[in-house]
Amino acid sequence: MQIRYLGHNGVQPADVCACVETHTERILKLQGGFVSYRFAERIGQLQPSPTVAVSDRVRELKQQGIDVIDLGGGDPDFPTPRHICEAASEALFAGDTHYVASAGIPELREAIREKLRADNGVEVDTAGIIVTPGGKSALISSVLALVGPGDDVLTLDPGWVSYEPMATIAGARTVHVPLDAADNYRVTRDAIDRHVTPSTQLLIVNSPNNPSGRVLSQAEIDAICGAAQEHDLIVFSDEIYEKIVYDGNVHLSIAAQPGMAERTLTHNGFSKAYAMTGWRLGYVAGPVEIIRQIMKIHSHSVTCATSFAQRGAVAALEGPQNFIGEMVSAWDRRRALMVDGLNQIPGVHCPMPEGAFYALANVSGTGKDGTEIAELLINEARVGVTPGVAFGDASADHIRMSFANSDELVTEAVRRMQEALS
Ligand SMILES: Cc1ncc(COP(=O)(O)O)c(C=O)c1O
Repeated sequence: MQIRYLGHNGVQPADVCACVETHTERILKLQGGFVSYRFAERIGQLQPSPTVAVSDRVRELKQQGIDVIDLGGGDPDFPTPRHICEAASEALFAGDTHYVASAGIPELREAIREKLRADNGVEVDTAGIIVTPGGKSALISSVLALVGPGDDVLTLDPGWVSYEPMATIAGARTVHVPLDAADNYRVTRDAIDRHVTPSTQLLIVNSPNNPSGRVLSQAEIDAICGAAQEHDLIVFSDEIYEKIVYDGNVHLSIAAQPGMAERTLTHNGFSKAYAMTGWRLGYVAGPVEIIRQIMKIHSHSVTCATSFAQRGAVAALEGPQNFIGEMVSAWDRRRALMVDGLNQIPGVHCPMPEGAFYALANVSGTGKDGTEIAELLINEARVGVTPGVAFGDASADHIRMSFANSDELVTEAVRRMQEALS
């Protein structure tokens, strides 16, 4: 328990005599009384998103007039294609501004069903699809529907920053399956088996992976499917970066593997492939029995994803797809710029990412860990990067950088990092 003075929550510093703060409670002693804020136990176990924290720090420095380059985020640096914007704006002006079906407009669910069939070899019923405000919303509604106190969720480490907090919000425990950087974060059956407990319900998989850029091979997918079937696990396959692969790597969908359709929820969205992060559109697709339960959470929490935005998403799926290839070739070029530049820094080793738009560099050869290097880079090089520990202990000696930035910015960021670390 600590005592300190506070001046937020609408209470003026002058009014506050003291603040008594515990894990889940804040009691502000005011001039004429007190007010206490009690928080749920789960809030004490959560930290704000570390990737958002990097962007906030960059924004703060920029507001002070400092020239900072933000490599911390995960936002494509391309505008949403015009035909997608036009479809949404036409719908907006045509009065499509009301509630729509909670699971999503029929046209979009049908377009998603067809996309899953054609692109991924995944067969789902339209009743097995929910359109959500962003992939994040699909993931948390699914987690809340499937696990709670006493359940374990397996995540591959390194993995995306929000899986564990989502499990925590649901009251479940996260068990990390640490993957070895020296083995290129290869997923093996043995690694999964060693971490399954009698309480494990769920295994969350993400390929192409954020932060490592790994694209799972058929052998790794087989290991995951074998473990899921033997231990009777539900698999969440987060395929949000599926379109962003390099060097002929092929994205494989878990739900398309033999015997996996009935135990897999495919999570995806429009943010990355269609440069639509601000539109907040994603989806989950899977067995109708599971989707019906997730619908209870979705309908009570978000009602429906934005009506006119969904019209844009139909245009995204049904319209021309060639700009995806154009974005990916630009990122391919910047990937080389960044990785080659990083590998010239003494003590830094960065493997070539196979997919997504992040470079995950091992900085242990500098004698510092990822958090120390991230601090040094923001303070001295004015480059915002995410410390690897944000993605799990397996990447604590790493930093993650997004190369979804212009060639000029990537080149300049690399130059600054070289200067600061050499
Ligand atoms: C691995 C992964 N999954 C899901 C998401 C969620 O994306 P959105 O909510 O924008 O659809 C992200 C976003 O960065 C991500 O990196």
